[in-house]
Amino acid sequence: MTQRPSAPSDVEAWSAVDQYYDALLKTADPILEAALVESKAAGLPEIQVSPLQGKLLYLLAKAHRPQRILEIGTLGGYSTIWLARGLPSDGRLVTIEHSARHADVARANIARAGLEHQVEIRVGPALEVLPLLESEGAGPFDMVFIDADKPSYPEYLDWSVKLARPGSVILADNVVRRGDVIEAQSEDVNVQGIRRMNEAIARNPRLSATAIQTVGAKGHDGFLLALVLPAQ
Ligand code: SAH
Ligand code: DHB
Ligand code: MG
Repeated sequence: MTQRPSAPSDVEAWSAVDQYYDALLKTADPILEAALVESKAAGLPEIQVSPLQGKLLYLLAKAHRPQRILEIGTLGGYSTIWLARGLPSDGRLVTIEHSARHADVARANIARAGLEHQVEIRVGPALEVLPLLESEGAGPFDMVFIDADKPSYPEYLDWSVKLARPGSVILADNVVRRGDVIEAQSEDVNVQGIRRMNEAIARNPRLSATAIQTVGAKGHDGFLLALVLPAQ
């Protein structure tokens, strides 16, 4: 696999710009900071969205006014808090997390944010929880954030479309991976998963999508945004 490491000087420059905008736009607050501190103290990997990306999730939710949000991949609940803060007061968020340990950390972080009445954490492998949500009639979800294991992204996309409605917005994180996404022959199962999802999106006439590359404190990556169109 071709490695495209980002030079340290690049990451430093990108981080400095993140810091400039974080300070100017006040993306940090004590509750979100506490979620990061507690997640790190509990030994969770530091792979949550950046503060500026979290605020994008929040602003997209605010603008889209979802009654229901679905998140696949909770970790310590950092992106969950950003998304849930974008909900109207009667809106709900369901987030799926395989690791009971991660879910415990997230539960405490979400409670500290005062969002426990709007957020439901479902613990288990997403491919087991998603059919349960369907049979419970938990949808339709107006907004979906896919951010769990990358090899299952194609299945997560299928479920997201199934649980969505025309007008729903589907977001997927980590769709660039330092540029590795363009390697058609990649043996990296993460890259393969993202590419298979992308090909399914391209084939699906009910989805209109874009992908935005990002750089910042977390390096070079990107997210995909798809809108579910009305059935023809
Ligand atoms: N959305 C979070 C980051 C999620 S990291 C944020 O930005 O704050 C990815 C998470 O997906 C990890 O917590 C991992 O345990 C979880 N995960 C991995 N495989 C999973 C699966 N099969 N089902 C559900 N969750 C899974
Ligand atoms: C990584 C980053 C993520 O945002 C994620 O969801 C999974 C893994 C990473 O940098 O390894
Ligand atoms: Mg991610």
